[in-house]
Amino acid sequence: MRVTVIRFLDELPAGTALAVFFDGETPTHPDVWSAVQRRYQGAPGQLMERRRWKGKLGDVLSVPWLGPEAGPLYIVGLRDENHPVTWETLRKACGGLGRLLQGDRVDRVALALPVLEDDPRMSLRAALEGLRLGQYSFRKYATTEPGEPELSVLEQVFFLDVPEAVVASAAEVATVVADAVALARDLVNEPPGYLSPERLAETAADYAASVGVAVQIYDEADLEAMGAHAFLSVGRGSESPPRMVHLHYRPETTPAGVLGLVGKGITFDSGGLCLKQPASMLDMKGDMAGAAAVLAALWAIGRLKPPVEVHGVLCCAENMPSGRASRPGDVVRAMNGKTIEITNTDAEGRLVLADGLVFTARQGAQKLIDVATLTGAATVALGNQIAAVLSNDEGLQQAFLASARRAGEAFWPLPLERDYKALLKSDIAFIKNSANSREAGTIIGGLFLSEFTEDRPWVHLDIAGPFWAEKPAFYLAAGGTGFGTRSLIQFVLDQAG
Ligand code: BES
Ligand code: MN
Ligand code: ZN
Repeated sequence: MRVTVIRFLDELPAGTALAVFFDGETPTHPDVWSAVQRRYQGAPGQLMERRRWKGKLGDVLSVPWLGPEAGPLYIVGLRDENHPVTWETLRKACGGLGRLLQGDRVDRVALALPVLEDDPRMSLRAALEGLRLGQYSFRKYATTEPGEPELSVLEQVFFLDVPEAVVASAAEVATVVADAVALARDLVNEPPGYLSPERLAETAADYAASVGVAVQIYDEADLEAMGAHAFLSVGRGSESPPRMVHLHYRPETTPAGVLGLVGKGITFDSGGLCLKQPASMLDMKGDMAGAAAVLAALWAIGRLKPPVEVHGVLCCAENMPSGRASRPGDVVRAMNGKTIEITNTDAEGRLVLADGLVFTARQGAQKLIDVATLTGAATVALGNQIAAVLSNDEGLQQAFLASARRAGEAFWPLPLERDYKALLKSDIAFIKNSANSREAGTIIGGLFLSEFTEDRPWVHLDIAGPFWAEKPAFYLAAGGTGFGTRSLIQFVLDQAG
């Protein structure tokens, strides 16, 4: 996708589509709007009146034909009755626009970019990310009717009157971020019969190698040798063996710190012997969404090359019932020596992450972030638009939340209430993996993980709500959302200063 700056409307090649934005009834670029009105003798304004178009977010008024020289005109609403207009509003609006352009087979568009929050760079990023993500679809297994045209993709975007200095770098970041989110979505959408732990590991290795990120894959024998028995216990019931993937990005200059990102990579979560109900298994091919976000972030970081050292660790396993599967009542010893009584085989994410966190800390990570579709309780608490964040370090949590807000992803803190550790007390081991109660499920998940952070500052992201979209909305397609990817990338960029 090429990105070009133009100063005036008449520099546009004939037939190029134009998008203008309205915050309610107010055009964000009054000058551009009056030029458009003059050029088409007031027809767009008249159409707005007749349609009673009020510039609301999600409403795009399209004017397909205004004359032989003109391209289609899109009038895009930004006014959100529930939120102030931010970069994320623009990302959403452009997501809807992107999808519409695809349906209209428009591959060149000019944007009269609204500059929001006084930041043209972040505004431009949000617009481009929205356009590209809005055009995402998972077509790998789609069958097309004969003669059905291929969906178009945007080839060129013109920005009207944006400072030239801003454009190149912001467009590059937007492209890399949108590519990364699309990769995370693809991996979540990929059926579990294809994307086994081994395939996920190989895919990760390919993406990492393509951008100079070092990769090491650990198989069962390696995991055994390092004492990662909690991790291993999860994969035991599956015909597809578990894998731990270590991705390592080292900047060329002195790093501003060493960060560890750990992702839950359960390629299918049946629940194991504590088998789930059929309806609850439907989206469990996406139980590797955390690992997908970590891989996508490392791929992006390898392309953007910020001066921060980053370890990315993917904990890949399939949770299946079988004669070899671990049973409720079994006890396993994690890498840090702590013993775990498995009281519920469906609380498997915390078992792989326990060893993943210890491993990552021991690689030299000074700060840890884990990302996981860990608990259904997170969806009960916060719904499917907001992920939970828990932490043992207030400063790190605040820094993460600031980056997430810039990236446009919604997180909300839950308390890591130590008193609740009593609920995980085992009679025979150091800890049990599930309280088997309905109380504070997300907090309990966080408390369990906090025993495996090797005293590092740590943030836990429970993305069980937003990892998946039931239906398309703005820049989301139905299925995997790639949630978490944008915040992880932004956090690393912000650490670099
Ligand atoms: N992967 C699930 C959590 C989940 C549920 C993610 C729905 C996304 C959507 C996790 O492994 C799980 O099964 N958690 C249990 C924990 C319980 C056994 C302590 C849950 O949420 O019921
Ligand atoms: Mn589970
Ligand atoms: Zn799971």
